[in-house]
Amino acid sequence: MASVTLEKINKVFGSTHIIKDVDLQIGDGEFVVFVGPSGCGKSTLLRLIAGLESITDGELSIAGGVVNDLPPRERGVGMVFQSYALYPHMTVYENMAFGLKLAKTAKDTIEQRVMATARILQLEELLHRKPKELSGGQRQRVAMGRAMAREPRILLFDEPLSNLDASLRVQMRNEIARLHHRLGSTMVYVTHDQVEAMTLADKIVVLRDGRIEQVGSPQTLYQQPATRFVAGFIGSPTMNFMPAQLVRGDANGCRVTAPGLGELTLPQDAGGLPHGSGLTLGVRPEHLRLAEADGENSFEIVNVEYLGNEVYVYLEPKAGETLLIHRSEASDRWQTGQRVALIPDLAHVHLFDDADHALEIAAARRVA
Ligand SMILES: Nc1ncnc2c1ncn2[C@@H]1O[C@H](COP(=O)(O)OP(=O)(O)OP(=O)(O)O)[C@@H](O)[C@H]1O
Ligand SMILES: [Mg+2]
Repeated sequence: MASVTLEKINKVFGSTHIIKDVDLQIGDGEFVVFVGPSGCGKSTLLRLIAGLESITDGELSIAGGVVNDLPPRERGVGMVFQSYALYPHMTVYENMAFGLKLAKTAKDTIEQRVMATARILQLEELLHRKPKELSGGQRQRVAMGRAMAREPRILLFDEPLSNLDASLRVQMRNEIARLHHRLGSTMVYVTHDQVEAMTLADKIVVLRDGRIEQVGSPQTLYQQPATRFVAGFIGSPTMNFMPAQLVRGDANGCRVTAPGLGELTLPQDAGGLPHGSGLTLGVRPEHLRLAEADGENSFEIVNVEYLGNEVYVYLEPKAGETLLIHRSEASDRWQTGQRVALIPDLAHVHLFDDADHALEIAAARRVA
């Protein structure tokens, strides 16, 4: 177990600057998840921690010691990849023992470590089998076992579940969470999957174009996204955005107008902005309420998706504009073609300035 500290980490490939001034503190035993659009640098950052890529500039420390110049095997990290090709001609036992053998570990230590790992991953019954005789989930567990048997201080995962089918992913996600509880080891995990990020992470790191956009607990990122990018990236279906204008505002709150919503009184501190400023209003699908249409403020329902446990209602502000999504607990009251009014829950409305930064809730309005 160990903490990891990244200080002003940069990575340049040729003439392309990929990782830019990344500062990050990963606590001992913490589960940290990297998310972000394809190509933003998630895998590169993980490989820099593992030592599979050299650091161009900055300092990387593990358990307080600088490791920039240490080769991967001396960093005490284990890595599980998306394509975790097991050695097909070796048994499960041999696959897990292989890394230890290469490291010239004593035979009885190898046996002890492999057996302990197999017990944790519930692979004891399968040790004599070859990979082709295993299910996808079992193979995934062997890949994890291979990384774990070396007793790394830190486990790194790069989209380890993305090759599995949906139900197996759910099962493995659960197993990884339980593994983390049992081992208490530091884990860094890259994923594209919102649910994996939200459910596994103590801390989520949102990366964008090689920089950290925001770091926080799943709750913080969901409830208080610092930028429009994070607001739109975390949450599914995604947050609704619409243009709005500041009518008046000060350090205690503000009034804004948004087409189709009328004038709203909101708790955000708009002290620094001139009246008339253009803003973006954001509201999640579950924080909108539908009501009978009233005059001008109405939206047309263009589609209703019934998912069993919930319903998504798609609304068109004006012909051709981006659709808004309303989510509710199963209710079949709304029908395509109907016109309705939208009522946002004012405590859950987000406002972003023209640089896409969130306006903070006024100090006096903050709920403790
Ligand atoms: N060895 C390399 N040489 C040059 N460019 C590279 C190299 N490895 C990665 N890159 C570039 O660095 C950027 C970040 O790549 P990286 O693999 O870290 O992205 P990612 O966030 O993991 O994306 P994905 O979600 O698609 O896996 C990409 O633009 C990629 O093309
Ligand atoms: Mg990647």
